[in-house]
Amino acid sequence: MTRSLVEKLSDVVGAAFSARDLPADLGAVRVSDRPDLAQFQCNGAMAAAKIAGKAPRDIANDIVGTLAGHGDLSRVDIAGPGFINLDVTDDYLAAHLRDMAGDSHLGVPQSGSGQTVVLDYGGPNIAKPMHVGHLRSAIIGDSLRLMMRYAGFKTLGDVHMGDWGTHMGMIVSEFIRTGATDRILGIDLEDEEQIDALMGELGVMYPQIAAACKEDPARKEEALAATVKIQNKESPYFDLLQLIRKASVNGMRRNYALLGVHFDLWKGEADVHDLIAPMVADLKAKKLAVESDGATVIPVKRDDDKKEMPPLILYKRDGGVMYGTTDLATIVERVSLYDPARIIYVVDQRQHLHFEQLFRAAMAGAVTRPDVALFFAGFGTMNGTDGKPFKTRAGGVMKLEDLIAMALDKARERLDEAALAQDMDEAEKNDVAHKVAIAAIKFADLQNQRTSDYVFDLDRFAAFEGKTGPYMLYQAVRIKSLLRKAYVTNDIDIDIDTMFRDLWNNDVSLREGDRSLALQLAQFSDAFDAALRHYMPHHLAEYGYQLANSFSSFYANCHILSEDDPAIRQSRLALCVLTYKVLETTLAMLGIAIPRRM
Ligand code: ARG
Repeated sequence: MTRSLVEKLSDVVGAAFSARDLPADLGAVRVSDRPDLAQFQCNGAMAAAKIAGKAPRDIANDIVGTLAGHGDLSRVDIAGPGFINLDVTDDYLAAHLRDMAGDSHLGVPQSGSGQTVVLDYGGPNIAKPMHVGHLRSAIIGDSLRLMMRYAGFKTLGDVHMGDWGTHMGMIVSEFIRTGATDRILGIDLEDEEQIDALMGELGVMYPQIAAACKEDPARKEEALAATVKIQNKESPYFDLLQLIRKASVNGMRRNYALLGVHFDLWKGEADVHDLIAPMVADLKAKKLAVESDGATVIPVKRDDDKKEMPPLILYKRDGGVMYGTTDLATIVERVSLYDPARIIYVVDQRQHLHFEQLFRAAMAGAVTRPDVALFFAGFGTMNGTDGKPFKTRAGGVMKLEDLIAMALDKARERLDEAALAQDMDEAEKNDVAHKVAIAAIKFADLQNQRTSDYVFDLDRFAAFEGKTGPYMLYQAVRIKSLLRKAYVTNDIDIDIDTMFRDLWNNDVSLREGDRSLALQLAQFSDAFDAALRHYMPHHLAEYGYQLANSFSSFYANCHILSEDDPAIRQSRLALCVLTYKVLETTLAMLGIAIPRRM
């Protein structure tokens, strides 16, 4: 199944336009803006009127005339100056849902099959604790990865940690200067407490050394020299770095595991070190990299640039490499190792210029192939209630782990308040609270257009009413409990897949009260397509929310378990189980897992 309902209807209406010697694409059908008046609409008569030099209403009349006898349409008429309104028959809609239910991807086309995509949505820096700034890239990036995987792409999520550069030299030289080398190298990396202590130490130490290096040129020299030694893999410089790296990765893994965010590759900037020299030599030979004021740069300015476009710096005057150098070499590496069709960067919008320079340099310098699409999926800032970038109460940077802990507390509080999860043991309560907390954080983020800023407001995010993650979970769990009752089982882990197959193996028919839920279900692949096409998960979040609402009305207005007519009851249960499946899949694409019960 590869055509969505609106695509199929567009074919039908397009054929009617063709039959009148008008372009078929004028027959594009979409979901009606006024669901109270019609299910679908086509506005093509407006444009057709210009082409044919007739009044839009006359064209619309012709088209409606052609479509009038169509067996799949229950109604075709004209609204206003020439909008064509359409309804489909219940049988047609039911048949569409049957196809969707029978498709292994619920009607989502496998447009990515045979293609690899690398996604870059990590970027935590070693020796520094992860903070709220890393939250959005993880949430949005992982969602894009899940969506692309569902659409058939082979996906590779790379954490691409910041582990290269002078800040590493500063820390390592400080350990050596204060005689701490043996103590640090003696740290047991199996021991969480020792790792935490080291990370704590680094957190305190780093700002101090950074300040000291600023003031004292000799200290700075030392740090720079240490950086070079690390890069040349000299002992104990390199060993110290390796240890710090491992300890940091431990913290990163813990944070990402708490968030339920997955990476396939745990690489960093340092991994491309050996590629840099040959890359720069090659770029110089091609005359793309040039000397400028003692630095080596790639000019990326174009004549039609409206804003300033500085060159991408490969080597600074002191010979050090820059952020752009490792990013460029990483493209070289990714292209040669994974042969990707696309590389997608999910990074703070404020780094936009860097990526513009990088992509221009990459394309101009032939470090990549022209058929590799490089895409910057920038995101807006997560602000505090004061409208400024989110901070702790004391005004500092909030650690990611602390933020997650706050959300966990809040989720637990809300579960208790709502008297949910009452008869569960402590372990299950914790599991539910964790899922609610993560759903609250992720859904609050992903319901916003990626490029917009939003205000972090845990009280609102963790509510069980409104457009929130917990509300979504609650609706999903409610469907599960309904199915449990329908199948007269007390088994908490019901076998949805078996029920699904059973219910859709029978005849499913629709009637009045089922229609709007059925229509909503049929829009899943369109919402998915919009989200995937623009790398914008909010289309799916919005869809999921609308679906949950449609279900809620359906549940309130239709007899399901209490329905006497077995055929109707059966059909309604089929809608319930399909709703569950679609909701579960939508939430899964947002990185949100549904608890067994709530
Ligand atoms: N480590 C960087 C930072 O903290 C983010 C890295 C983003 N990814 C990239 N390929 N540049 O700003």
